Amino acid sequence: MKQADASCPEWKEDELPLNPSLIKARLKTMLLGQECLMPDEVDSTNLEIMRLARQGAEEGLVIIAKRQRHGRGRMGRHWHAFGEESLAMSVLLRPNVSPDQASRLSLVAAVGVHDALSAFAPKVRIKWPNDILFGGKKLAGILTEMQSEAGKVQAIAVGIGINLAPPLSGWPEEIKHQATDLGSASGLRASRLEVALQAISCLENVYMTYLQQGFVSIRERWWQAHAASGKPVHVHDGTTYIRGIARKLDDNGMLIIETETGLQRIVAGDLEIV
Ligand code: BTN
Repeated sequence: MKQADASCPEWKEDELPLNPSLIKARLKTMLLGQECLMPDEVDSTNLEIMRLARQGAEEGLVIIAKRQRHGRGRMGRHWHAFGEESLAMSVLLRPNVSPDQASRLSLVAAVGVHDALSAFAPKVRIKWPNDILFGGKKLAGILTEMQSEAGKVQAIAVGIGINLAPPLSGWPEEIKHQATDLGSASGLRASRLEVALQAISCLENVYMTYLQQGFVSIRERWWQAHAASGKPVHVHDGTTYIRGIARKLDDNGMLIIETETGLQRIVAGDLEIV
């Protein structure tokens, strides 16, 4: 990790270039990243890992794209990825769970990515369900997608997008007030390699804990890292606003909000901390 040079905002991959053998040599994980692919360009690492999952790819496969053309975001949105100034990566999981339990994995992943980025920038927070924030702005996003068959999860793609530095071309207009990056958050320049290693290893730790001890053990950690725990929030579920106090996360990973009319369970939506 290098100190960022504030007078030189240009982002350059440092002396640790991304390559699969270096990732393998440096990783100390048992499951995630034992196989790692690094295509020069993909449409979306999530789509690519799901294609490989259908062809029988094993749990733990990691794909890191040097360039991602059509990054997919939550709620059907586009995810901007900016070459070396961002990290676009997907991890293939095959937990032995039913499809209705799969949404918990997106919260498990949030804890893993939160842990990873906290190593570079303390004060990183989670925003329900799995945005990673610094100073109220978005530093990283996670999209989990699932394949299931006959009432069983076949594959889960955990897609992680991390902003490492401001894009050389500047933030796109539509996100410029909401986005931030790890360099600005930490005052350090971390390479894609360092951040990828940290993310894979923290994700493995938290995934193993989830498999061995269940979601309850992760739920408390998520709640502690959540920026809006116990605070007033608005949630837009696509049609209406729900206003209230964020009270807890239930066993399925749904957010419970105390509204004027009682407790309400939020399944999906955009949360705003008031
Ligand atoms: C969000 O909307 O916050 C989720 C963004 C997730 C982006 C990542 S980048 C790697 C992976 N591949 C995709 O197409 N999306 C995820």
